[in-house]
Amino acid sequence: MTEHGQAGPLTLADYADLARARLGPAVWDFVEGGAGAERTLAANLAAFDHVRLRPRVLTGLGLPHTKTEVLGRVWDAPIGVAPMAYHTLADPEGEVATARAGAPLVVSTFAGRTFEDIAAAASAPLWLQVYCFRDRTTTRRLVERAEQAGFEALVLTADAPRLGRRVRDLRNGFLLPSGVAPANLTGTGFSSPGGHAAAEFDPALDWSAVAWLRSISSLPVLVKGVLTASDAVLAKEAGADGVVVSNHGGRQLDGAPATFDVLPEIAAALGRSCAVLVDGGVRRGADVLACLALGADAVLLGRPVLHGLAAGGSGGVAGVLGIVTDELAEAMLLTGVPAPRDAGPALLAAVQPAALTPASAAPAGGVTLRRRDLHGSLNDPLLDTMNFLNEITHRYPDALSFAPGRPHDGFFSTEDVFTHLRRYVEHLEEGGATPVEVRSALYQYGPTNGQIRELVAASLRADEGIDVPPASIVVTVGAQEAMLLALRALIRGPEDVLLVSSPCYVGITGAARLLDVATAVVEERAEGLRCADLEAVILAERARGRRPRAFYVVPDHSNPSGATMPLGTREELLRVCARHDVLLLEDSPYRMVSPGPQLPTLKALDRERRVVQLGSFSKTLFPGARVGYAVADQPVEGGGLLADELSKIKSMVTVNTSAVSQAVVAGMLLAAQGRTSELNTGPAAHYGDAMRVTLRELAACFPDAEELGVSWNEPTGGFFLTLRVPFRAGNEALVRSAEEFGVIWTPMSYFYPQGGGDHAIRLSVSYLPASLIPEGCARLSRFVRAQAG
Ligand code: FNR
Repeated sequence: MTEHGQAGPLTLADYADLARARLGPAVWDFVEGGAGAERTLAANLAAFDHVRLRPRVLTGLGLPHTKTEVLGRVWDAPIGVAPMAYHTLADPEGEVATARAGAPLVVSTFAGRTFEDIAAAASAPLWLQVYCFRDRTTTRRLVERAEQAGFEALVLTADAPRLGRRVRDLRNGFLLPSGVAPANLTGTGFSSPGGHAAAEFDPALDWSAVAWLRSISSLPVLVKGVLTASDAVLAKEAGADGVVVSNHGGRQLDGAPATFDVLPEIAAALGRSCAVLVDGGVRRGADVLACLALGADAVLLGRPVLHGLAAGGSGGVAGVLGIVTDELAEAMLLTGVPAPRDAGPALLAAVQPAALTPASAAPAGGVTLRRRDLHGSLNDPLLDTMNFLNEITHRYPDALSFAPGRPHDGFFSTEDVFTHLRRYVEHLEEGGATPVEVRSALYQYGPTNGQIRELVAASLRADEGIDVPPASIVVTVGAQEAMLLALRALIRGPEDVLLVSSPCYVGITGAARLLDVATAVVEERAEGLRCADLEAVILAERARGRRPRAFYVVPDHSNPSGATMPLGTREELLRVCARHDVLLLEDSPYRMVSPGPQLPTLKALDRERRVVQLGSFSKTLFPGARVGYAVADQPVEGGGLLADELSKIKSMVTVNTSAVSQAVVAGMLLAAQGRTSELNTGPAAHYGDAMRVTLRELAACFPDAEELGVSWNEPTGGFFLTLRVPFRAGNEALVRSAEEFGVIWTPMSYFYPQGGGDHAIRLSVSYLPASLIPEGCARLSRFVRAQAG
């Protein structure tokens, strides 16, 4: 028997029973929310009841750890305590006892103990939950006191624009027992029963409250009570560092959606630059893991903590949190998740059969698809990146754009398309094709692996000294399809991992996400990629029981950073990959549009067919063709080449690359005897000038760069360079830059697969006419100065 008179370890239900007995009906009702909270609380609990986690066996991962980072601080587990008024109702020591349990704690404005006492007992981060009162001085004083006491963040409760039912109950009907009072609101209406109205919440509160909190405090601000993606975006744009997805446990809007149901859309809308916490109905370790899988950084636990506190004081709180944390660790072990950050939507891929979904969840009047029933990748903000990059420039037509990685329009002429097409037709005719065969080559389904492979092979030989048979080439719909085909073919299963650099081109990480291919990152340093770092990642992945299968690399003028890999590193890279039997996926679209001689490609240096090259004509010829290729000359056991395997996959994806597009591309290659380098002397000089002018203008616009905390790299070619800035360069900054300063760029954080790059910008020099670059840089300088100041 335990001290509580229970046989064996207590469960959460035992803690609740004990609490109920100890608190008596009135206080119990206040804690639980009574009538009104029931429906939403039930919805919160039911949403978790339908979660199904995908088990994994024999992962060789060892014991998982639950440590995670939230707003720059390491938490022992991704579980904190939700803000709740008056812990003193449950235990005379109140929040002091809760804090002593050692978990991160959000202290309510209506805490029953002083901030200073709570801080003295705490060993984990304390955050202050803020209600904005009509009288702002009261709120300001609270915030200042908490900050002085060492609190680390502010959580603005936004779903309580009026005195919530509970608080009103307190003031009208349910009287606080003696000894229970707000300990940090001395001198306001709340310090005595029946206080004056000036102390009430501000019902006209709007998003400017976030800026106001920022102006009175240096602490990060989170907004609690967010239940839609649009409000989440507004929170972020208002300057919030995070949101708490919460329906107040049903204590405000009865009939609000379950927080778990809206979490995916909110996490997807915010991306990784904002902290996402969620509360409401989290009761089990599996619930926590499911929230992490859908994009939450951590969860907050409400009522069960008060049950623990009432049942056993500080020890009871620790008991409750310990149960959930242990369950989380076990769920992680059984699903093959080594650390909280590794939980992804794939964990929930086998969600419940539709039959288990309550009929009431189906909206009246037609089919609505639930996010969590769709493929997990669709909840990943990564998948929005490409569209964003393609659309941002159109969204602000008057702004000068350093955003898109698209070729300069000035090189294209509509009439040329017809000339190129005709040239290819003549080429077929000269080769003896009959009119019927020519017609068929343009109008019919073509060979899956492409009808212009000979020309592509000749072009590779002429331009790059790569000598491969046409049979090793598959003509694809851009390099993007080549990436999908290569990943689908080469990655055997979940134990295989694709290595990518960080930062990395989103096309490959997006393709990996679509195919549920695990990725591991090799950090790119200021001087570029280092083979020693790659080797360390290979060994670490092996130690985790995963097979590092291939390393995706852009060796020349990389997108996004602009880095180029020196010759020695290329040779070492081939040796390292040979030593560890890792394949290389080489993608190098910017070589021919860069000025001056280029280093040999990895494929040209490859003596043992270790490199699969993913090629693109988008930058060298024109992107509208959507023609790329894979060079896959690796023999496959039993006969044939990897190219044949890719072709099998392609036959089920795009069947064949557009015959007309291939014909136009072929016509262009024929015009220059396959030398795309020859076709690109003009563009290469143009982009080289654009890079030079951009670098010169940056130097002119930022003579005080060092003082300002601004720096940039100096790529020798390609479209991109990295500008480091002394502020978070995320979507909000971008919107300000576009709207107030008329200049667009791309947040570098988009290209970091595991977070990072928050203080860097990708500048593309390819799109803007050279004459506008000086003005673009001047605008950029004005924006950077305003944002930094
Ligand atoms: C709350 N909650 C709350 N929220 C807030 O922002 N400020 C507050 O002062 C309080 N007070 C409060 C008191 C009590 C007794 C309860 C139960 C709840 C809401 C709380 O932070 C949280 O959103 C929910 O309680 C989380 O749901 P679960 O875990 O209780 O289901």
